[in-house]
Amino acid sequence: MRNRFVAGNWKMNLSDSESKSLAEKIASHSYTENTQVVLCTPFLYLKEVLEATSGNTKVAVGAQNCHEKEAGAYTGEVSAAQLASAGIPYVILGHSERRTYYKEDNALLKSKTDEALAQGLHVIFCCGEVLEEREANKQAQVVETQLQEALGHLSTDQMSKVVIAYEPVWAIGTGKTASAAQAQDMHEMIRNWVANQFGAEHAEQQIILYGGSCKPGNAAELFAQKDVDGGLIGGASLKAEDFIQIIEA
Ligand code: 13P
Repeated sequence: MRNRFVAGNWKMNLSDSESKSLAEKIASHSYTENTQVVLCTPFLYLKEVLEATSGNTKVAVGAQNCHEKEAGAYTGEVSAAQLASAGIPYVILGHSERRTYYKEDNALLKSKTDEALAQGLHVIFCCGEVLEEREANKQAQVVETQLQEALGHLSTDQMSKVVIAYEPVWAIGTGKTASAAQAQDMHEMIRNWVANQFGAEHAEQQIILYGGSCKPGNAAELFAQKDVDGGLIGGASLKAEDFIQIIEA
């Protein structure tokens, strides 16, 4: 039985005091034994969110990106080694906003994944197709290429520290959610890819999240799908009540 996993991606939102208060509200709730919650905050707030959630063993903290090098003259960047040294266990890599706005390609994401895993972090690796690719019915091919090029070389041991998040780009922040059937189709395809690469036993354990306009009103139906193990939540993770409702779902 796979654990349930819900991560909030705060993106570039919230002030310092809002972050602390949101983290405290989320950490004050109790979650079932098989649930993992991760709050992915701006770098600036990681330590205080870590502190604010330290009393709740079900709530962990993650960054939204890291650099592919261990250290050096990379102004404005943060390394996986720095995250690890600060006690941050998770990092999101390959989010479509990073792919689009900062031109992160599969080769770079492969390097970032290697570096994050080498530093002992868990990676929440995002994949997903854009609208034109969905309209051309190329979603499976696109996502498989993203996974193959960035994760295909990993060992099974390394892969056990990777959570995959399927986020159709046309559903992110648009209010348009993939239907439960569309999500299940893609998650099944992803689990099959994992089985081919890492074996059936590993594939059974692989956590695969859905992301894209996931809300209290649609979370239960999405999470009820056989291959959907939880969600990566953007907008709705900024309101404690909504986010907790999604986790409860
Ligand atoms: P929304 O939930 O706001 O659509 O964002 C999804 C997302 O990008 C999570 O990483």
